[in-house]
Amino acid sequence: MSDSPIGIFDSGLGGLSVYKELISHIPNEQVIYFGDSGNAPYGPKSTDYIIKRSTEITEFLLAKGCKLIIVACNTATAAAISHLRTKFDTPFIGMEPAIKPAAKATKTGSIGVLGTQGTFSGGHYQNTKAKYANNVNVIYRVATGLVEYVEQGEKNNIYIAELLTKYIKPMLLENIDHLVLGCTHYPFLSDDIQKVAGSGVTLVNPANAVVRHTLSVLKMSGLINTSKSNRQDEFFTTGDIEKTKRIVDSITMRMNIVKSV
Ligand code: DGL
Repeated sequence: MSDSPIGIFDSGLGGLSVYKELISHIPNEQVIYFGDSGNAPYGPKSTDYIIKRSTEITEFLLAKGCKLIIVACNTATAAAISHLRTKFDTPFIGMEPAIKPAAKATKTGSIGVLGTQGTFSGGHYQNTKAKYANNVNVIYRVATGLVEYVEQGEKNNIYIAELLTKYIKPMLLENIDHLVLGCTHYPFLSDDIQKVAGSGVTLVNPANAVVRHTLSVLKMSGLINTSKSNRQDEFFTTGDIEKTKRIVDSITMRMNIVKSV
């Protein structure tokens, strides 16, 4: 069981920002990644739809023998993780909107959050905000269009810069000093985001905290893989296989097995 793989899924390629962090901190684990790029973005979709897809993907990953599943998608975490935990007897790790560390670190008393419609309308975001950022000015913005650019493997172009300027400028007027990347796709646009936000704003990516949490759950439940494995990860996509392979290879810096579902 401890040498079974970890499953990771996302609406598409965004969860690879969590995967990247995972393999650098927990290198012995084998990973099966499922990107639902054929159905991305999840952000504007209904809760019922996201629960349905998350359930189907979980069944797929469990059939592959996964011992733990990381829902590497803020939108799917908000919509579906409690349903998944009730339905399946497997540990699930979800995304935290990282408001807590940003609220703790702010000096100006203002923080920004970029995310999807689904994430902001879910109760999880509202609860986290109420619990940890009650005394902080939180400016959130649905960052429509960014996920699509990441899915195309695009960054550093003027269209992205224009969108980011529209989303981030109003936050700068409110003097934010931390900006939470509330969608796992956004770390792939970190350079573009930093350029618009300026050097006075610290970007907060929750991937590291999620990986630390995964490590402690693996240890606590006796699921950690202690044997050095010759890990060969597998990637599944409902989207374009060639495009996915190119992006996965460039992110992981090696040739990978990418299959279509
Ligand atoms: N990567 C996603 C998230 O963290 C999904 C965004 C989307 O598909 O709209 O929210």
